Parts: sequence; C-alpha cells; structure tokens
Amino acid sequence: MKYINNIFTLENCSLNEVIKKFETPFFCYSEKKIRENINNFKNSFKSFSPIICFSTKSNCNLEILKQIKRNGLGADVVSKGELMIALKAGIDKKKIVFSGVGKTRAELIYAIDKNILLINCESKSEILEIENIAKSKNKKVDVGIRLNPNTDAKTLKQISTGKKENKFGINEKSFFEVVNLIKMSKHLNLKCLSVHIGSQILDHKPYEKMLNVLDRLIKKISFNFKYIDLGGGMGIDYNKDNKKFNYKKYNKIIKKFLKKHKSKIIFEPGRSIIGDTAILVSKIIYIKQNSSKDFVIVDAAMNDFMRPALYGAKHRIIPLKKTNKKTNKKYDFVGPICETTDKFLTTNKFQKLNEKDYIIICDVGAYGSSLSSNYNIRPKLAEILIKGSKIKVIKKRQRLEDII
Ligand code: LLP
Repeated sequence: MKYINNIFTLENCSLNEVIKKFETPFFCYSEKKIRENINNFKNSFKSFSPIICFSTKSNCNLEILKQIKRNGLGADVVSKGELMIALKAGIDKKKIVFSGVGKTRAELIYAIDKNILLINCESKSEILEIENIAKSKNKKVDVGIRLNPNTDAKTLKQISTGKKENKFGINEKSFFEVVNLIKMSKHLNLKCLSVHIGSQILDHKPYEKMLNVLDRLIKKISFNFKYIDLGGGMGIDYNKDNKKFNYKKYNKIIKKFLKKHKSKIIFEPGRSIIGDTAILVSKIIYIKQNSSKDFVIVDAAMNDFMRPALYGAKHRIIPLKKTNKKTNKKYDFVGPICETTDKFLTTNKFQKLNEKDYIIICDVGAYGSSLSSNYNIRPKLAEILIKGSKIKVIKKRQRLEDII
C-alpha cells in the first residue's frame, strides 16, 4: 500500500480506479497483505508449529474467511453464527475452537454435533451444561478450561480480559474444582488449558506473566494438557511510531515454557492477521468552519467504523490524493451521525482539504466491518478485495430497502 504518482495504490490498483466504480464509503482489502501477515505469523512460531485459529470476531466476511482457510488457518468462534460461517468458509472443524462466557444450550448442541476441536469452558455451570448434553447424546466431548490468570495485559481497559474483575475465564480458586469435575466425568475429555488476556497488546511481558501462572498451575495439578491455547491479542502499530509487538521475545518465552510442558500450542489471533490489511475510503461531504477548527464532515460514520467512538482508538487518516497544498488549520474529521462521539480524529497536520475530496482511514481490517451497525438506518458498507490489479466485491453494499 503506497502512493504512486501521488495516488494511494493497493497492490497494482490505483484507488482512483476503485472510486470510479464504487460509491463511498467502502472497505478495501489487500489479498497480498493478508497472505503476508499469515506467513509472518507462521514464521514467527515455526519451531513449534502451532494451530492458528483466526479470531472470526475480528473479521467475519465470508470471502476473507475463505482466504484465511486457503492459507491453512483454523477459526476461533464465539457464537453459533460464527461457527456456521467458519464451516461455510470450509475451515476444518478440527481446527475450530469455541470460546465465550455465555454459550447457550442451543449453541453448545450445535458445536457438539459438529465435532469441533474444542469447546473452551468459562464456568462450572457451562461445564455441567455440556456434560448434560453429551450424556443425552452418549458422547464424549473434548473441552478446555479458560483460565482467568489475573494478569494485566497493559492495554486499553475496555479490551482487557485477563484480570480478576473481568467476566472472562475461571479463576484460580475454582480452577482446581473444575479440573476434578471434568476428570471425573464420563462424558468430558479435558484436553486444553486456554487463556486470552486482552487485545492490542504491545508488550510481551504480560504474556510472560500469564505463562508463569500457567506453569505454576499445571505443576500443581500435575496434568498434561494436550493443548495450551494462548488466545490472541498481539497488537499492531496503528500510529506508525514503531511500537511493535516483539514476536521474537514471545516465541522465546513460549519455547521455554514448552521445555517443561509437552503440549501443542493454539493461538487465536485476529487483529495481527487482518488489522492492517484494509482501509476505509470516504468522501468529504461538507467542510464547516468553526472558530478554532474546521469540521470535515465525511460520508463514513461511527456505525461503519466504531473503534474511535467506542474506545477512543486513534486511526491514521490520509488523503487519497496527495497535493502540495499546505494549511495550518486544525481539522476534526467527523461523520454525519447525531452523536458527539461520531468523530474519527482531530489533527493539525494535514494537507488543505476541499469538499468532495477523498480520505482514507487506515488499518480498519480488524473490528471494522464486524463491529459495524445500522445505526441511523445507514446501510452496511460494500467490502472490496484487491488482488494484483483485480477488484472483487466481497460484500455488496446493503440496500436501504432490505433494512427498512
Ligand atoms: N480469542 C478470544 C477469546 C478473544 O476474546 C479475542 C478478542 C481474540 C481471541 C482475538 O484477539 P485479537 O488477536 O484480535 O486481539 N473490538 C475490540 C477488540 C475486542 C477483542 C475481543 N476479543 C477492538 O476493536 O479493539
């Protein structure tokens, strides 16, 4: 993704071509970047070849999931819908893990019938529910225990999941009880110990702490788990300030752990695979002057891309066409929705903008389309995949008639 003759270009496709064909706003992905990210991820951990289950919640576009499948990945799912779409994408059921604190009986029955790799349980009640279903079907179901390791992931508090005050996982006190419960059961196989401490983690140290907790607990129960599922969470460099996650160090920590425990590692990455593979292209509708700044009102809004409004997340905005026109104006990039939080970014470092110019919101591949909504009765966006110089629509823009 780079500027060629001052026009933003994905692979061999100038965005000038794409905006001629499609109405803004739209999501635009690079197939090559997805492949590169998957290869980099695999290479980072190749000495122990983990099972990599792409976190479907980060992007659940069927065509993207097919790309993921073609590159050999499995899926981490958190609902019946995600399990259905992962299977529809052709993902191997023996590479699918099911997490979540509130799996309903119907969802569990569906997952058990599909014979997926693992159901990672998050409470004693859930374990009893699975046992009850398995018994009624006279089956033995492979399960994991999702532990809450009480580890601070040092990320945004809204996306931290591994501390004791968070709803996720089973705490250390109940852990021993549920291990025994599963071991005693005729219908459950204890196969996995799983954790996921949070998302957009840039420091490897929280993972080190988490692995120390696992090490200590496994020794205490002296049980060999076939799988250790370390979840996802590896962060990406949204601000391009080189704060990058150190894969080398994480790999080293895991290898040290594996010297003591002979298990297969599972990962559930979402953002690190898909985050920087997509952009959101939007057009300026109006520019409204204000005493201290100009409001640049674009046609994308918080319903299309929630992260800034929901978490105060910062995503770079760049022009589709670079010019030399400078300004010292402060710009507030906002959407048309009737909410003050419908704002993408404030900046005083931007080229001079005009109404009808196009802008690009960067790194929207993860939790972009999957978190979008129809708020204000705005149709969901088209999604476009670039492969070389080919442009493929992988989701059509929703029609207002279908919503209404
Ligand atoms: N596994 C489990 C059990 C998870 O809950 C999640 C994300 C992942 C894996 C994938 O995490 P990743 O590698 O993508 O960090 N909407 C928020 C992120 C919420 C993440 C929820 N769980 C955001 O836009 O930042």
